[in-house]
Amino acid sequence: MCNQKNLQDKQTLASDASLFPETKMKIKWICGLLLASLSAVPLSSQAAERLNVLCAADNDWCELMRNSFESETGVQVSMVRKSAGEIFAQIRAEAGNPKTDIWWAGTGDPHLQAAAAGYTEVYKSPQLDKLQPWAQKQAEIAGYRTVGVYAGLLGIGYNPEVLKRNNAPAPKCWKDLLTPAYRGEIQIPNPNSSGTAYAAIATLVQLQGEAEAFAFMKKMNDNVNQYTKSGSAPAKALARGEIGVGITFQHDLLKETVAGFPVEVVSPCEGTGYEVGSMSIVKGAKNMASAKRFYEFALRADVQSLAVKANAFQVPSNKAATIPPRAPRLETVKTINYDFAKYGSEETRKRLLKRWDDEIFSLPR
Ligand code: F6P
Repeated sequence: MCNQKNLQDKQTLASDASLFPETKMKIKWICGLLLASLSAVPLSSQAAERLNVLCAADNDWCELMRNSFESETGVQVSMVRKSAGEIFAQIRAEAGNPKTDIWWAGTGDPHLQAAAAGYTEVYKSPQLDKLQPWAQKQAEIAGYRTVGVYAGLLGIGYNPEVLKRNNAPAPKCWKDLLTPAYRGEIQIPNPNSSGTAYAAIATLVQLQGEAEAFAFMKKMNDNVNQYTKSGSAPAKALARGEIGVGITFQHDLLKETVAGFPVEVVSPCEGTGYEVGSMSIVKGAKNMASAKRFYEFALRADVQSLAVKANAFQVPSNKAATIPPRAPRLETVKTINYDFAKYGSEETRKRLLKRWDDEIFSLPR
């Protein structure tokens, strides 16, 4: 075996004064060649493969994905959970020198914004035609810089015990959230960090028009006790009985119901928005081969069918994956025709976030 150590020994030998000069030259030349070729071998084949993942799903599902991928492939995964808006900001900040290889999960809007800015890699999976039309469409809109991995419906959750205590009615519609009976009882995430909250704002704007939606959010602010950092935080606060009403994804509410907490899920009567949870490979990823391996892994039907083990009730994007029986389904409720291209664009997302900061977050609570 030729390794660094015995190459060094051979070079020492080459400098031995007892050897003829031609022999010394030959040994030096051969060693030089061998050392050069050794240093050209990529690190990945000398050490264990690695992968840096930013995960925007719930922690339990992130962990499940990491463990399953590691045990199938032997790739060492470093995974951090963050909200979708935070991941977008990190990937933008690292664009010159990416530390992340793949961004798995999280609402589609920031993935689309990253795609348009060129922060993510064009990659067309051979499994694309196995995916639901909404997942393929997400890839097409992004010029194949992202792809849909699941879908989830936005909703309103409530804790019947807390509402009963406050003598407050159960909400049925978005408009009900303005009732004074919910003063200090509503939680909704902050759209700067949370993809869920941005999807909620985009939904209200598409349902009501922008001016009306901002007037609505201004009034609703009287009832809001906190704009949380993560999208699923209102579901957890409902489960703990800390609030009466929360705005988040229906699958995150259902997770609490299934765990035995008094959390009810409502599809607002006016119609609701939804997410196409997405996945993108970071442009210039240092572990590109592992990133593509993870990408293909995450699109497989058997892998997507595992989600229910982590009580993740989103609808999987692979048509052959098992849809959890209790998963809130897009076709069973009134949905808006969410314009992903528009609300995932840099122009619209940036403008709506700024307007929300200026007109809503600045209000007293
Ligand atoms: O908890 C899971 C989930 O709701 C995903 O379906 C969604 O993509 C993500 O969280 C959004 O999280 P956040 O609002 O914190 O960005």
